[in-house]
Amino acid sequence: MENVQPVSDSLVRARDLPWIPQGSANVWFKPLRINLRAGSWVNLLKVARSGVVNRHRHLSEVEGWVVQGRWHYLEHDWHAEPGAYVYEPPGDVHTLVADVTDAEPMLTLFAIHGPIEYVTETGDLAYVETAETKLKRYEDHCREHGIPLQPIVF
Ligand SMILES: [Fe+2]
Repeated sequence: MENVQPVSDSLVRARDLPWIPQGSANVWFKPLRINLRAGSWVNLLKVARSGVVNRHRHLSEVEGWVVQGRWHYLEHDWHAEPGAYVYEPPGDVHTLVADVTDAEPMLTLFAIHGPIEYVTETGDLAYVETAETKLKRYEDHCREHGIPLQPIVF
């Protein structure tokens, strides 16, 4: 394969990383790895309230593993529960709805292999999230709160 650089093994402890607000209220992410070369990232997503989180389109594959809580997409007929593995193909547009209780927020690990286009209810493009914007959110948040940066870019 071309353009594949070897990386050393890495251990990232989620407890060393902050929960970073992600746009809407009651939604946070915790980045575990950001790969600028591939344009991909891995993060935990936490949603503390039931309801519509956002509508988005993936330009590349997404894989998810539900740790806690339940959620579904308005456009699909399945419901994800703890232990479920979710695969989202490129081009899929879906609206995330969390089904959680106050005592147990939704927690899902997502491996995102390319940009996410957030769209409005009418389908207009609102915001494009990339590995670079994800890294900027992380670094800005850490700077603002005096949190030491962890080596999550690899
Ligand atoms: Fe998605």
